[in-house]
Amino acid sequence: MSIIEAKQLTKIFGSEPKKALSLLQQGWTKDKILAETKMTVGVNQASFTIEEGQIFVIMGLSGSGKSTLVRLLNRLIEPSSGQLLFKGQDIMNMSVEQLRQFRRKNVGMVFQKFALFPHRTVLRNVEYGLEVQGMEKSKRKEMAMQALELVGLKGWENSLPDQLSGGMQQRVGLARGLANNPDVLLMDEAFSALDPLIRKDMQDELLELQSKMKKTIVFITHDLDEALRIGDQIALMKDGSIVQIGTPEEILMQPANKYVERFVEDVDLSKVLTAAHVMEKAETITIDKGPRVALQFMRERGVSSLYVVDKSMQLLGLVSAEDASNAIKEGQKLEELIQQDVPEIAPDTVLNELFELMGNSRLPVAVVDSNRRLKGVVIKGAVLAALAGNSLADGGGNHESS
Ligand SMILES: Nc1ncnc2c1ncn2[C@@H]1O[C@H](COP(=O)(O)OP(=O)(O)O)[C@@H](O)[C@H]1O
Ligand SMILES: [Mg+2]
Repeated sequence: MSIIEAKQLTKIFGSEPKKALSLLQQGWTKDKILAETKMTVGVNQASFTIEEGQIFVIMGLSGSGKSTLVRLLNRLIEPSSGQLLFKGQDIMNMSVEQLRQFRRKNVGMVFQKFALFPHRTVLRNVEYGLEVQGMEKSKRKEMAMQALELVGLKGWENSLPDQLSGGMQQRVGLARGLANNPDVLLMDEAFSALDPLIRKDMQDELLELQSKMKKTIVFITHDLDEALRIGDQIALMKDGSIVQIGTPEEILMQPANKYVERFVEDVDLSKVLTAAHVMEKAETITIDKGPRVALQFMRERGVSSLYVVDKSMQLLGLVSAEDASNAIKEGQKLEELIQQDVPEIAPDTVLNELFELMGNSRLPVAVVDSNRRLKGVVIKGAVLAALAGNSLADGGGNHESS
Protein backbone atom coordinates (compact mmCIF):
# COMPACT_ATOMS: atom_id res chain seq x y z
CA MET A 1 0.00 0.00 0.00
CA SER A 2 1.25 3.46 -0.74
CA ILE A 3 1.92 5.58 2.31
CA ILE A 4 2.89 8.86 0.65
CA GLU A 5 1.66 10.15 -2.64
CA ALA A 6 2.79 13.43 -4.13
CA LYS A 7 1.18 14.93 -7.19
CA GLN A 8 2.75 17.84 -9.00
CA LEU A 9 4.27 19.03 -5.74
CA THR A 10 5.93 22.40 -6.30
CA LYS A 11 7.79 24.93 -4.20
CA ILE A 12 8.72 28.36 -5.42
CA PHE A 13 10.84 30.59 -3.20
CA GLY A 14 10.00 34.20 -3.95
CA SER A 15 7.38 36.89 -3.97
CA GLU A 16 4.96 35.67 -6.63
CA PRO A 17 4.84 31.89 -6.67
CA LYS A 18 1.72 31.86 -8.86
CA LYS A 19 3.47 33.79 -11.56
CA ALA A 20 6.52 31.51 -11.42
CA LEU A 21 4.21 28.49 -11.59
CA SER A 22 2.59 29.67 -14.76
CA LEU A 23 6.01 30.35 -16.26
CA LEU A 24 7.04 26.79 -15.34
CA GLN A 25 3.98 25.48 -17.06
CA GLN A 26 4.94 27.48 -20.13
CA GLY A 27 8.22 25.60 -20.10
CA TRP A 28 10.56 28.15 -18.56
CA THR A 29 13.62 26.66 -16.90
CA LYS A 30 14.67 27.21 -13.31
CA ASP A 31 17.59 29.34 -14.51
CA LYS A 32 15.45 31.54 -16.71
CA ILE A 33 12.88 32.08 -13.97
CA LEU A 34 15.63 33.05 -11.57
CA ALA A 35 17.24 35.40 -14.07
CA GLU A 36 14.02 37.12 -15.09
CA THR A 37 12.00 37.09 -11.88
CA LYS A 38 14.51 36.55 -9.05
CA MET A 39 12.39 33.63 -7.87
CA THR A 40 13.86 30.22 -7.16
CA VAL A 41 12.24 26.98 -8.18
CA GLY A 42 12.88 24.70 -5.20
CA VAL A 43 10.82 21.75 -6.37
CA ASN A 44 9.19 21.54 -9.76
CA GLN A 45 6.00 19.48 -10.14
CA ALA A 46 7.28 16.36 -8.42
CA SER A 47 4.99 13.35 -8.59
CA PHE A 48 5.79 10.05 -6.93
CA THR A 49 4.40 7.31 -4.75
CA ILE A 50 6.16 5.80 -1.77
CA GLU A 51 5.10 2.33 -0.73
CA GLU A 52 4.90 1.30 2.88
CA GLY A 53 8.12 -0.31 4.11
CA GLN A 54 10.21 1.07 1.26
CA ILE A 55 13.49 2.91 1.37
CA PHE A 56 12.80 5.71 -1.05
CA VAL A 57 15.96 7.58 -1.93
CA ILE A 58 15.96 11.14 -3.21
CA MET A 59 19.24 11.76 -4.95
CA GLY A 60 20.71 14.70 -6.77
CA LEU A 61 23.50 17.23 -6.79
CA SER A 62 23.65 20.03 -4.28
CA GLY A 63 20.89 22.55 -4.94
CA SER A 64 18.73 20.13 -6.91
CA GLY A 65 15.88 20.42 -4.42
CA LYS A 66 16.25 17.36 -2.17
CA SER A 67 16.00 19.12 1.17
CA THR A 68 13.14 21.25 -0.01
CA LEU A 69 11.27 18.18 -1.21
CA VAL A 70 11.72 16.26 2.02
CA ARG A 71 10.58 19.26 4.05
CA LEU A 72 7.49 19.56 1.90
CA LEU A 73 6.55 16.05 2.98
CA ASN A 74 5.79 17.14 6.55
CA ARG A 75 5.01 20.73 5.60
CA LEU A 76 8.04 22.15 7.35
CA ILE A 77 8.03 23.99 4.04
CA GLU A 78 4.64 24.98 2.71
CA PRO A 79 4.09 23.79 -0.89
CA SER A 80 3.26 26.43 -3.50
CA SER A 81 1.02 23.98 -5.31
CA GLY A 82 0.32 20.33 -5.76
CA GLN A 83 -1.19 17.59 -3.71
CA LEU A 84 0.21 15.46 -0.95
CA LEU A 85 -1.45 12.41 0.57
CA PHE A 86 -0.46 10.43 3.64
CA LYS A 87 -2.23 7.06 3.75
CA GLY A 88 -4.81 8.61 1.48
CA GLN A 89 -5.33 11.65 3.70
CA ASP A 90 -4.65 15.08 2.22
CA ILE A 91 -1.85 16.66 4.24
CA MET A 92 -2.54 20.04 2.65
CA ASN A 93 -6.00 20.11 4.20
CA MET A 94 -4.88 19.29 7.72
CA SER A 95 -5.67 21.77 10.46
CA VAL A 96 -2.82 23.14 12.56
CA GLU A 97 -3.65 20.65 15.29
CA GLN A 98 -3.89 17.69 12.87
CA LEU A 99 -0.58 18.68 11.37
CA ARG A 100 1.01 18.83 14.80
CA GLN A 101 -0.28 15.34 15.58
CA PHE A 102 0.90 14.10 12.21
CA ARG A 103 4.43 15.36 12.84
CA ARG A 104 4.51 13.93 16.35
CA LYS A 105 3.11 10.53 15.65
CA ASN A 106 3.74 9.72 12.04
CA VAL A 107 7.10 11.17 11.07
CA GLY A 108 10.60 11.19 12.47
CA MET A 109 13.48 13.17 11.10
CA VAL A 110 17.25 12.73 11.07
CA PHE A 111 19.64 15.40 9.86
CA GLN A 112 23.20 15.53 8.64
CA LYS A 113 24.32 17.79 11.44
CA PHE A 114 23.33 15.58 14.29
CA ALA A 115 22.17 18.67 16.16
CA LEU A 116 22.63 17.02 19.52
CA PHE A 117 22.41 19.10 22.68
CA PRO A 118 25.94 19.00 24.13
CA HIS A 119 24.87 19.27 27.77
CA ARG A 120 22.15 16.67 27.60
CA THR A 121 22.94 13.02 28.05
CA VAL A 122 22.41 10.64 25.15
CA LEU A 123 19.15 9.51 26.70
CA ARG A 124 17.86 13.04 27.19
CA ASN A 125 18.79 13.91 23.62
CA VAL A 126 16.74 10.99 22.36
CA GLU A 127 13.87 11.90 24.69
CA TYR A 128 13.85 15.47 23.50
CA GLY A 129 11.04 15.30 20.94
CA LEU A 130 8.85 13.31 23.31
CA GLU A 131 9.56 15.75 26.11
CA VAL A 132 8.52 18.69 23.96
CA GLN A 133 5.26 16.88 23.26
CA GLY A 134 4.70 16.78 27.01
CA MET A 135 5.00 13.03 27.30
CA GLU A 136 5.21 11.78 30.85
CA LYS A 137 8.73 11.09 32.11
CA SER A 138 8.74 7.32 32.62
CA LYS A 139 6.96 6.71 29.32
CA ARG A 140 9.34 8.84 27.31
CA LYS A 141 12.31 7.23 28.99
CA GLU A 142 10.99 3.82 28.07
CA MET A 143 10.51 4.79 24.43
CA ALA A 144 13.91 6.48 24.21
CA MET A 145 15.60 3.43 25.71
CA GLN A 146 13.94 1.21 23.15
CA ALA A 147 15.18 3.44 20.35
CA LEU A 148 18.70 3.43 21.79
CA GLU A 149 18.67 -0.32 21.96
CA LEU A 150 17.54 -0.51 18.33
CA VAL A 151 20.54 1.49 17.17
CA GLY A 152 22.99 -0.45 19.34
CA LEU A 153 23.65 2.22 21.94
CA LYS A 154 22.37 0.48 25.02
CA GLY A 155 24.75 1.27 27.85
CA TRP A 156 25.60 4.73 26.52
CA GLU A 157 22.44 6.46 27.68
CA ASN A 158 24.16 8.45 30.40
CA SER A 159 27.11 9.60 28.29
CA LEU A 160 27.39 13.07 26.83
CA PRO A 161 27.49 13.47 23.04
CA ASP A 162 31.14 14.53 22.89
CA GLN A 163 32.16 11.28 24.59
CA LEU A 164 30.90 9.49 21.49
CA SER A 165 32.47 9.04 18.05
CA GLY A 166 30.88 10.64 15.00
CA GLY A 167 29.22 7.41 13.97
CA MET A 168 27.80 6.92 17.43
CA GLN A 169 26.55 10.49 17.51
CA GLN A 170 24.69 9.85 14.30
CA ARG A 171 23.18 6.76 15.90
CA VAL A 172 21.87 9.03 18.63
CA GLY A 173 20.36 11.20 15.90
CA LEU A 174 18.83 8.10 14.39
CA ALA A 175 17.46 6.98 17.76
CA ARG A 176 15.93 10.41 18.23
CA GLY A 177 14.22 10.12 14.86
CA LEU A 178 12.90 6.70 15.83
CA ALA A 179 11.92 7.54 19.40
CA ASN A 180 8.28 8.31 18.64
CA ASN A 181 8.06 5.08 16.64
CA PRO A 182 7.05 6.93 13.47
CA ASP A 183 5.60 5.37 10.32
CA VAL A 184 7.94 7.39 8.15
CA LEU A 185 11.52 8.32 8.84
CA LEU A 186 12.87 11.28 6.86
CA MET A 187 16.66 11.31 6.64
CA ASP A 188 18.32 14.32 5.04
CA GLU A 189 21.95 13.54 4.15
CA ALA A 190 22.08 11.75 7.47
CA PHE A 191 25.29 9.88 6.69
CA SER A 192 27.00 12.44 4.47
CA ALA A 193 29.27 13.82 7.17
CA LEU A 194 30.60 10.43 8.25
CA ASP A 195 33.90 8.84 7.29
CA PRO A 196 33.49 6.35 4.44
CA LEU A 197 33.93 3.20 6.52
CA ILE A 198 31.65 4.37 9.30
CA ARG A 199 29.22 5.48 6.68
CA LYS A 200 29.10 2.02 5.18
CA ASP A 201 28.48 0.54 8.64
CA MET A 202 25.61 2.93 9.14
CA GLN A 203 24.14 1.98 5.79
CA ASP A 204 24.30 -1.69 6.76
CA GLU A 205 22.77 -0.88 10.08
CA LEU A 206 19.97 1.05 8.49
CA LEU A 207 19.22 -1.83 6.14
CA GLU A 208 19.14 -4.19 9.06
CA LEU A 209 16.95 -1.89 11.12
CA GLN A 210 14.69 -1.60 8.14
CA SER A 211 14.37 -5.35 7.76
CA LYS A 212 13.39 -5.57 11.44
CA MET A 213 11.14 -2.55 11.73
CA LYS A 214 9.64 -2.30 8.26
CA LYS A 215 9.53 1.47 8.49
CA THR A 216 9.11 3.61 5.47
CA ILE A 217 12.28 5.61 5.01
CA VAL A 218 12.77 8.64 2.80
CA PHE A 219 16.52 8.90 2.48
CA ILE A 220 18.26 11.84 0.91
CA THR A 221 21.75 11.66 -0.45
CA HIS A 222 23.91 13.26 -3.10
CA ASP A 223 25.95 10.06 -3.22
CA LEU A 224 25.08 7.66 -6.00
CA ASP A 225 26.79 4.65 -4.45
CA GLU A 226 24.83 5.18 -1.26
CA ALA A 227 21.60 5.57 -3.19
CA LEU A 228 22.19 2.39 -5.17
CA ARG A 229 23.16 0.50 -2.07
CA ILE A 230 20.18 1.23 0.11
CA GLY A 231 17.38 2.41 -2.17
CA ASP A 232 14.40 0.27 -3.11
CA GLN A 233 13.37 3.16 -5.32
CA ILE A 234 15.48 6.11 -6.32
CA ALA A 235 14.21 9.48 -7.47
CA LEU A 236 16.92 11.43 -9.25
CA MET A 237 16.48 15.20 -9.12
CA LYS A 238 17.84 17.99 -11.26
CA ASP A 239 16.93 21.67 -10.98
CA GLY A 240 13.97 20.88 -8.75
CA SER A 241 12.50 18.27 -11.08
CA ILE A 242 12.52 14.52 -10.75
CA VAL A 243 14.21 13.27 -13.90
CA GLN A 244 13.80 9.57 -13.23
CA ILE A 245 12.29 7.28 -10.63
CA GLY A 246 13.20 3.64 -10.58
CA THR A 247 14.90 0.77 -8.86
CA PRO A 248 18.69 0.97 -8.70
CA GLU A 249 18.79 -1.48 -11.58
CA GLU A 250 16.46 0.58 -13.73
CA ILE A 251 18.42 3.75 -13.09
CA LEU A 252 21.63 1.98 -14.09
CA MET A 253 20.41 -0.10 -16.97
CA GLN A 254 17.71 2.12 -18.44
CA PRO A 255 18.72 5.72 -17.82
CA ALA A 256 15.81 7.96 -18.84
CA ASN A 257 17.98 10.52 -20.60
CA LYS A 258 21.51 11.77 -21.18
CA TYR A 259 21.63 13.45 -17.78
CA VAL A 260 20.96 10.21 -15.93
CA GLU A 261 23.33 8.39 -18.23
CA ARG A 262 26.14 10.76 -17.34
CA PHE A 263 25.21 10.63 -13.70
CA VAL A 264 25.66 6.87 -13.54
CA GLU A 265 28.49 6.33 -15.99
CA ASP A 266 31.21 6.04 -13.35
CA VAL A 267 29.36 3.62 -11.13
CA ASP A 268 31.37 0.73 -9.83
CA LEU A 269 29.17 -2.08 -11.06
CA SER A 270 30.85 -4.60 -8.79
CA LYS A 271 29.20 -2.87 -5.86
CA VAL A 272 25.81 -2.81 -7.47
CA LEU A 273 25.31 -5.87 -9.61
CA THR A 274 24.33 -8.97 -7.72
CA ALA A 275 24.68 -12.69 -8.15
CA ALA A 276 21.12 -12.74 -9.45
CA HIS A 277 22.24 -10.54 -12.37
CA VAL A 278 25.02 -12.78 -13.56
CA MET A 279 23.91 -16.26 -12.60
CA GLU A 280 23.19 -18.88 -15.18
CA LYS A 281 20.99 -21.90 -15.20
CA ALA A 282 22.42 -24.64 -13.02
CA GLU A 283 22.52 -28.15 -14.46
CA THR A 284 20.94 -30.42 -11.88
CA ILE A 285 20.05 -33.99 -11.11
CA THR A 286 17.65 -35.19 -8.46
CA ILE A 287 19.00 -37.38 -5.69
CA ASP A 288 16.84 -40.38 -6.64
CA LYS A 289 18.81 -40.95 -9.87
CA GLY A 290 21.91 -43.14 -10.13
CA PRO A 291 25.49 -42.34 -11.18
CA ARG A 292 24.90 -43.81 -14.63
CA VAL A 293 22.10 -41.33 -15.30
CA ALA A 294 24.29 -38.57 -13.90
CA LEU A 295 27.03 -39.36 -16.39
CA GLN A 296 24.50 -39.51 -19.17
CA PHE A 297 23.13 -36.07 -18.22
CA MET A 298 26.62 -34.61 -18.15
CA ARG A 299 27.37 -35.93 -21.58
CA GLU A 300 24.10 -34.61 -23.01
CA ARG A 301 24.53 -31.20 -21.45
CA GLY A 302 28.26 -30.89 -22.01
CA VAL A 303 29.20 -30.28 -18.38
CA SER A 304 31.64 -32.03 -16.04
CA SER A 305 29.55 -31.83 -12.89
CA LEU A 306 25.94 -31.56 -11.78
CA TYR A 307 24.23 -30.05 -8.78
CA VAL A 308 22.32 -32.63 -6.83
CA VAL A 309 18.97 -31.44 -5.56
CA ASP A 310 15.89 -32.91 -3.97
CA LYS A 311 12.44 -32.70 -5.51
CA SER A 312 11.90 -29.17 -4.21
CA MET A 313 15.20 -27.97 -5.72
CA GLN A 314 16.94 -27.85 -2.36
CA LEU A 315 20.65 -28.02 -2.90
CA LEU A 316 22.29 -31.18 -1.58
CA GLY A 317 25.70 -30.91 -3.20
CA LEU A 318 27.68 -31.53 -6.35
CA VAL A 319 28.62 -34.65 -8.24
CA SER A 320 31.57 -34.75 -10.66
CA ALA A 321 31.95 -36.87 -13.79
CA GLU A 322 35.02 -38.52 -12.35
CA ASP A 323 33.27 -39.56 -9.14
CA ALA A 324 30.24 -40.74 -11.08
CA SER A 325 32.26 -43.01 -13.33
CA ASN A 326 34.18 -44.44 -10.37
CA ALA A 327 30.88 -45.03 -8.62
CA ILE A 328 29.58 -47.09 -11.49
CA LYS A 329 32.55 -49.44 -11.11
CA GLU A 330 32.20 -49.60 -7.33
CA GLY A 331 28.41 -49.88 -7.34
CA GLN A 332 27.90 -46.74 -5.24
CA LYS A 333 24.77 -44.64 -5.07
CA LEU A 334 24.57 -40.98 -5.99
CA GLU A 335 24.14 -39.89 -2.38
CA GLU A 336 27.47 -41.48 -1.48
CA LEU A 337 29.27 -39.29 -4.02
CA ILE A 338 27.90 -35.91 -3.22
CA GLN A 339 30.46 -33.26 -2.45
CA GLN A 340 28.85 -31.10 0.14
CA ASP A 341 31.34 -28.29 0.48
CA VAL A 342 29.95 -26.45 -2.51
CA PRO A 343 30.32 -22.68 -2.16
CA GLU A 344 26.93 -21.03 -2.02
CA ILE A 345 25.66 -17.47 -1.80
CA ALA A 346 22.42 -15.53 -1.64
CA PRO A 347 21.00 -13.98 -4.83
CA ASP A 348 21.54 -10.45 -3.54
CA THR A 349 25.27 -10.87 -2.90
CA VAL A 350 27.10 -8.10 -4.76
CA LEU A 351 29.83 -9.08 -7.19
CA ASN A 352 32.44 -7.37 -5.09
CA GLU A 353 31.84 -9.88 -2.30
CA LEU A 354 31.60 -12.69 -4.78
CA PHE A 355 35.11 -12.17 -6.08
CA GLU A 356 36.74 -13.27 -2.89
CA LEU A 357 34.72 -16.45 -2.73
CA MET A 358 35.38 -17.27 -6.35
CA GLY A 359 39.08 -16.72 -5.98
CA ASN A 360 39.22 -19.35 -3.27
CA SER A 361 37.21 -21.97 -5.05
CA ARG A 362 37.72 -23.98 -8.17
CA LEU A 363 34.02 -24.88 -8.13
CA PRO A 364 31.35 -22.63 -9.56
CA VAL A 365 29.33 -20.84 -6.90
CA ALA A 366 25.76 -21.96 -6.28
CA VAL A 367 23.13 -19.28 -5.78
CA VAL A 368 20.53 -20.37 -3.25
CA ASP A 369 17.54 -18.61 -1.73
CA SER A 370 16.79 -18.44 1.97
CA ASN A 371 15.31 -21.94 1.80
CA ARG A 372 18.49 -23.23 0.17
CA ARG A 373 16.68 -23.75 -3.09
CA LEU A 374 19.05 -23.66 -6.01
CA LYS A 375 18.40 -20.62 -8.20
CA GLY A 376 21.43 -20.68 -10.45
CA VAL A 377 25.16 -20.81 -10.69
CA VAL A 378 27.80 -18.12 -11.04
CA ILE A 379 30.70 -18.74 -13.36
CA LYS A 380 33.79 -16.56 -13.32
CA GLY A 381 33.54 -15.54 -16.95
CA ALA A 382 30.01 -14.23 -16.49
CA VAL A 383 31.09 -11.99 -13.63
CA LEU A 384 33.90 -10.49 -15.65
CA ALA A 385 31.65 -10.00 -18.65
CA ALA A 386 29.05 -8.21 -16.55
CA LEU A 387 31.66 -5.89 -15.12
CA ALA A 388 32.93 -5.14 -18.58
CA GLY A 389 29.39 -4.07 -19.39
CA ASN A 390 28.58 -7.05 -21.57
CA SER A 391 25.61 -9.33 -21.10
CA LEU A 392 23.67 -6.46 -19.58
CA ALA A 393 22.00 -5.58 -22.81
CA ASP A 394 20.02 -8.79 -22.72
CA GLY A 395 18.94 -8.24 -19.14
CA GLY A 396 22.00 -9.59 -17.46
CA GLY A 397 21.86 -13.27 -18.24
CA ASN A 398 19.35 -13.60 -15.47
CA HIS A 399 18.39 -17.19 -15.98
CA GLU A 400 16.71 -19.23 -13.33
CA SER A 401 16.72 -22.93 -13.17
CA SER A 402 13.21 -24.19 -12.87
N1 LIG B 1 14.66 29.30 2.05
C1 LIG B 1 15.05 29.40 0.78
N2 LIG B 1 14.91 30.56 0.10
C2 LIG B 1 15.27 30.68 -1.17
N3 LIG B 1 15.79 29.70 -1.91
C3 LIG B 1 15.97 28.50 -1.31
C4 LIG B 1 15.61 28.29 0.06
N4 LIG B 1 15.90 27.00 0.37
C5 LIG B 1 16.41 26.46 -0.73
N5 LIG B 1 16.44 27.34 -1.76
C6 LIG B 1 16.89 27.08 -3.11
O1 LIG B 1 16.13 25.99 -3.61
C7 LIG B 1 16.95 25.14 -4.39
C8 LIG B 1 16.95 23.75 -3.80
O2 LIG B 1 17.64 23.76 -2.55
P1 LIG B 1 17.75 22.51 -1.62
O3 LIG B 1 16.42 21.86 -1.51
O4 LIG B 1 18.39 22.94 -0.35
O5 LIG B 1 18.73 21.57 -2.45
P2 LIG B 1 19.56 20.28 -2.00
O6 LIG B 1 19.05 19.82 -0.68
O7 LIG B 1 19.34 19.30 -3.09
O8 LIG B 1 20.99 20.70 -1.94
C9 LIG B 1 18.30 25.78 -4.44
O9 LIG B 1 18.38 26.53 -5.63
C10 LIG B 1 18.33 26.65 -3.23
O10 LIG B 1 19.17 27.75 -3.42
MG1 LIG C 1 20.07 19.52 1.14
